Amino acid sequence: MNILVTGSSGWLGQTLVPRLVRDGHKVVGLDPEPGPTTEVVGSVVDRALVRHLVRDHGIEAIVHAAARHKPHIETHDNSEFVAVNVQGTLNLLEEAVAPGSKVDRFVFTSTTSLMISQKIRDGKAGGAKQAMWIDETLGPLEPRNIYGVTKRAAEELCRLFNHLHKLPIVILRTARFFPEEDDMAHAIEQSGDNTKANEFLFRRLSVEDAAEAHVAALHKAPALGFDTFIISAMTPFSPDDCRELIVDAPKVVERYFPDYRELYDRRGWTMFASIDRVYDASKARDRLGFTCGTGFAEILDSLR
Ligand SMILES: NC(=O)c1ccc[n+]([C@@H]2O[C@H](COP(=O)([O-])OP(=O)(O)OC[C@H]3O[C@@H](n4cnc5c(N)ncnc54)[C@H](O)[C@@H]3O)[C@@H](O)[C@H]2O)c1
Repeated sequence: MNILVTGSSGWLGQTLVPRLVRDGHKVVGLDPEPGPTTEVVGSVVDRALVRHLVRDHGIEAIVHAAARHKPHIETHDNSEFVAVNVQGTLNLLEEAVAPGSKVDRFVFTSTTSLMISQKIRDGKAGGAKQAMWIDETLGPLEPRNIYGVTKRAAEELCRLFNHLHKLPIVILRTARFFPEEDDMAHAIEQSGDNTKANEFLFRRLSVEDAAEAHVAALHKAPALGFDTFIISAMTPFSPDDCRELIVDAPKVVERYFPDYRELYDRRGWTMFASIDRVYDASKARDRLGFTCGTGFAEILDSLR
């Protein structure tokens, strides 16, 4: 397939583009930042450029991973978020359904962040008595920042274009896969690797798995028509654990992984005292046929 990948110089793009090329696809990477996985240096906000790319390269599939995202909240103003995340998405959708376009599938990289209201984020400190079990049925959604609001708006544009034009679209609400140190309070007590290992229990995946989920979505989009999936490492927890997770997370983890403490102790690592949310990726497993290859069990294997 001829595939347009936006955000191709980014953390995900750098993994996804070579992965698609390995499968024999012809990939056109679009990003304002030059890089080895970017063929065209430019912006999704530039409608004429998007039109030219979709038409002249005979694009058949679009993976829209470009975004201003959470780290940019401090450095970019709100209108930049609207331009890239909303107008940029609209430009791609309009060109995907324009007369003469060969695009027959669209994958949008969204975020679990848009499901996190201020109340959910406040967790235990905000009075939560149990961890929040989060799946795709959670609503009404109340994103708490410009990143979440603009990603949510982009998701709605995707839904509208599928409704109006029957363009197959898969939305992937991915959990965190960034390599940087955590920005959460947990990080004060735990090193970066320790924090990330803990997060594989309930809110993280590897960048390789993130790329793989996009491959699965490209494959399945025509059969699905329109769907939205949480993409995160499969949690070992169940909704029955939520009450205990918020008061004593290490005890719950030990029930599932009896030797985790020993492996952690050897490195001087610790578990979060409290876990306030759990992303449930079972819909992706059941309907998309995708499960992350790396979860907490594999992290412990690597520690062994
Ligand atoms: N990294 C995470 O933990 C995480 C979690 C959830 C969702 N996501 C989503 O995954 C996607 C990829 O994230 P990432 O971690 O690779 O981010 P990244 O910042 O490394 O990559 C994003 C890329 O988009 C590019 N971009 C910015 N404006 C653009 C524009 N106008 N036109 C074209 N490209 C533009 C940037 O230059 C960058 O290379 C984003 O949509 C993000 O919202 C990321």
